[in-house]
Amino acid sequence: MTTTIAGYAFDDDLPTSPVSTADLDLLLSTLLWSDDDAAALARAGAVLAPQVEAILDLWYGYVGSHSHLVASFHGPDGQPSAHYLSAVRARFGQWITDLCARPWDQRWLDHQHEIARRHTDTKGRTDGVDSPQRFVPLRYLVAFVWPITATIRPFLAAGGDDADTVDAMHTAWFKAVTLTVALWSQPYDPDRW
Ligand code: HEM
Repeated sequence: MTTTIAGYAFDDDLPTSPVSTADLDLLLSTLLWSDDDAAALARAGAVLAPQVEAILDLWYGYVGSHSHLVASFHGPDGQPSAHYLSAVRARFGQWITDLCARPWDQRWLDHQHEIARRHTDTKGRTDGVDSPQRFVPLRYLVAFVWPITATIRPFLAAGGDDADTVDAMHTAWFKAVTLTVALWSQPYDPDRW
């Protein structure tokens, strides 16, 4: 999968994540991740792919309407940066399909670590934004699991699958996003991760 999205790093030569595939396996077993979840997540990816822009409209509306959240997208003037918001938006859309379609191997882990660093120590660097907020507060990262899980359900249902399949996709999505935040929390406190 190749893409020309500015700042998108999956195909770059990234540093190896401090999170190993063995660490990942323990997280997956903690989440009770199963082969059925993997199949449901793959189906979710196919259902969501054509709806990415509508999903992003909803999530961006949610972030934009909460000043404590949009503060992470402020530029040096202390106002939301349209450049920053739109640059991240393109990569966020790609993340939706990546999460569902990419194999969760070492390269994927390395990319998770890159995104984790973009929420912490390298925040703003990719898009050349000198944001006054130097990192995304961890508590909002954790709390964000719920809105992006609750709001995904109608999009999953729009694929025309039966109710049990929609439930399975929703559960798999919830687990996958929870896993994501568990991985992205690593740079916030590496010693205690
Ligand atoms: C479940 C939680 C979250 C997910 C899945 C998520 C997802 C993403 C993705 C996919 C990107 C682009 C990564 C890339 O560069 O390829 C990103 C960047 C970003 N996100 Fe999040 N995010 C979450 C929570 C939050 C929260 C709560 C905020 C703050 C309100 C936030 C603010 C940002 C900012 C400012 C960037 C740009 C970072 C940079 O400067 O490179 N994120 N996020």
